[in-house]
Amino acid sequence: MENMLHLTPVPAHTMLPNCCALEPERLPPAITSAVTLPVIDMSCSREEVRQAMLDAGKEFGFFQVVNHGVSEQVLRDMEVVCEEFLQLPAEDKAHLYSDDNKKLNRLFSGSTFKTGSFWMDCLRLACTFPGLEDSVNEWPEKPKRFREVFQKFVTQARGMGLEILQLLCEGLGLPIGYFEGEQTDGNVFVSTIWYPPCPNASTTLGLPPHCDRNLITMVLSGTVPGLEVFYNGDWLKVEPVRNAFVINFGIQLEVVTNGIIKSAEHRVLTNAALPRTSVVTSLMANDDYVIGPAEELLSEDNPARYRNTMFRDFMRLYNKALEESGGDVKQAIKYFKI
Ligand code: OGA
Ligand code: NI
Repeated sequence: MENMLHLTPVPAHTMLPNCCALEPERLPPAITSAVTLPVIDMSCSREEVRQAMLDAGKEFGFFQVVNHGVSEQVLRDMEVVCEEFLQLPAEDKAHLYSDDNKKLNRLFSGSTFKTGSFWMDCLRLACTFPGLEDSVNEWPEKPKRFREVFQKFVTQARGMGLEILQLLCEGLGLPIGYFEGEQTDGNVFVSTIWYPPCPNASTTLGLPPHCDRNLITMVLSGTVPGLEVFYNGDWLKVEPVRNAFVINFGIQLEVVTNGIIKSAEHRVLTNAALPRTSVVTSLMANDDYVIGPAEELLSEDNPARYRNTMFRDFMRLYNKALEESGGDVKQAIKYFKI
């Protein structure tokens, strides 16, 4: 628990010898690119939204959405309960803390990662569908409205994720409901990540460059910038857009679409002055589901470029490849390529 950054007074951070400092080669300078990520208004016509998502998925693997169906009230309530949780005294959070990454529900710090030390604290909660009522009992009881608000949030955010996958499915010409069932009926993880102000912001990262492994991730990223996406040799800054979600396609989707959709590397910078909070919702496949390119997208001229792997092995092997390559995402993805 003493690893948690938000419980350490800021002057003490500066005293920690090179805490979280990365070698310069792992911190490429941000290049100011004129390109910005698309912001897709989901209240436009289905045809327009479908096309915009397909284009953005092919080009960036990332985009933002507004008018997405998650209610503004729920977004405001999330801001409140996440901040209230953070401000709870340490003794109210100690029972949630764990360094064991196999634990489904836990509070942990980025300073304990195997691939390096990063400037973030995280509360990760698992949600099952159906059966959300059972997951809720594993979540924090304080602050008072925490469980109620999180339950509403994850239900609406998951609905948005499934709708985006359905639109993508139509755009790709896959059968209706292709991503429903085993591809998305594993746990939904909701990770609330706090990036405290960082005294060594130029030599420290909040999160290292990585690709998400699952099908789709939806990030509620607040008003403070920090998230960056790798695109054509540049790091693009994700500009905060009020009430938007940042949508990020993962390696599972790249594999299923046989590479049509990209899963982009991204990272989070720290900020010397401002704290940042993000809420990251990830849809997971069933552990036994075999991930591989969709038959419908293959032909003699377009053979499978990725191998079939069971989801539980996929998650483990990706982590292993990442650790063995010292955190090199490209090496880890190669592992699944034919
Ligand atoms: C992640 C992630 C981005 C953010 O948790 O995988 O990329 O802005 N988070 O916190
Ligand atoms: Ni990510």
